[in-house]
Amino acid sequence: MTHAQSRLTFTASGGERLRGRLRVPGDKSISHRAVMFGALAEGETVIDGLLEGEDVLATLAAFRAMGVAAEGPDSGALRLAGAGLHGLGAPAAALDMGNSGTAMRLLCGLLAGQAFDTTLTGDASLTRRPMRRVTAPLAEMGALIETAEGGTAPLTVRGGRRLHGIDYALPVASAQIKSALLLAGLYAEGETRISEPAPCRDHTERMLAGFGYPVRREAGTVTLAGGGRLTATPVSVPADVSSAAFFLVAASITPGSDLILEHVGMNPTRTGVIEILRLMGADITAVREDVVGGEPVADLRVRHAPLHGIDVLARLVPLAIDEFPVLFVAAAAASGETRVTGAEELRVKESDRIAVMAEGLAALGADVTATPDGMIVRGGRGLTGGRVHAHGDHRVAMSFAVASLMARDAVVIDDCANVATSYPTFAAEARAVGLMLAEQWHTPEAT
Ligand code: S3P
Repeated sequence: MTHAQSRLTFTASGGERLRGRLRVPGDKSISHRAVMFGALAEGETVIDGLLEGEDVLATLAAFRAMGVAAEGPDSGALRLAGAGLHGLGAPAAALDMGNSGTAMRLLCGLLAGQAFDTTLTGDASLTRRPMRRVTAPLAEMGALIETAEGGTAPLTVRGGRRLHGIDYALPVASAQIKSALLLAGLYAEGETRISEPAPCRDHTERMLAGFGYPVRREAGTVTLAGGGRLTATPVSVPADVSSAAFFLVAASITPGSDLILEHVGMNPTRTGVIEILRLMGADITAVREDVVGGEPVADLRVRHAPLHGIDVLARLVPLAIDEFPVLFVAAAAASGETRVTGAEELRVKESDRIAVMAEGLAALGADVTATPDGMIVRGGRGLTGGRVHAHGDHRVAMSFAVASLMARDAVVIDDCANVATSYPTFAAEARAVGLMLAEQWHTPEAT
């Protein structure tokens, strides 16, 4: 059964305390990039720890449709026969990116440099999301990309264009825009230079270097020249800190909890969630620190601790951008007031995460005020429980499951099927460490 045909409801009934060890699935951002660079490299790339979530599988299916031979994925292992930067072929049909903004935006840049035309489509959420943020600077580089009215998908990326490098100041701290332009820059004449208004995730830069492509990084800028080549290299994908975040919050807010999260990616452009939780009083320690394939990793030990509200520093927002749904839950558990500002990007994620989280938390009895660029949460009153809607947003669904840990009654969460985009094993793993979580599938006729 696919998402188009089925719906998933979670019933989360809290839990006593969270205990044990868990290795959450591979990092989504790194997995997408590992597939892309492996497909474009010369030679065979072997990936381990790959996230087998629907978003990454959509990226992999796109490269298979463009002629890249791949074996797997099987338990996180994938073998890719790299086609080289100029070895992709025209796909027979439109490429369906499903729910994945990363896949669509990064591919947009990469496809702008190909000899053939491609159409990119996606689900209802993805076709509402803004794409001009990539198509406009790509047009400055010489690309031709047709969009639907309003600058949204479907996108038709015309091939056979001569691209040239540009010097571009990102209007938002977005790794997706940065990466799309760097991918186009591989095919451009001259240098592509991108500056970011604040640090955002740098997996593309790190992985380009890992695949032997010269990249220059200076304070707040990244530069590369077209015409180089990528050389296959093994990639080991760490566990996704964005998935670990649900358990960091779950254990922090549940008395008696003591949990170890293994081999979590600790790239400093991703660990804002840990810093924010620590500022709120969380007890998180990193042990067994290591570096795998250019990415830092550590085991994280998290124990229950009383949280208190804070003003979230603007500098931390891009470094925790995907973790705000669950951070709002932490804020509802914390005593006092938490204020998040400068986070308007949350409104254009898989859902409008400010509106959807404010609506759901209020339905569960929290005292929250949505603002144009964030939220004010007056926490520490506990939650009642009740029925909420995840609006097809994976991180919203998992965040409400965590919220059940401080609710008097069960939390019933509708529209959770997209949890499979980033964390297909969430429910089973959550149960394994002590969360009471039941899943119920419905066909549309039954709902
Ligand atoms: C991602 C970048 C972020 C993030 C998304 C993954 C990436 O988006 O929200 O989940 O892999 O580059 P933006 O770059 O739009 O902030």
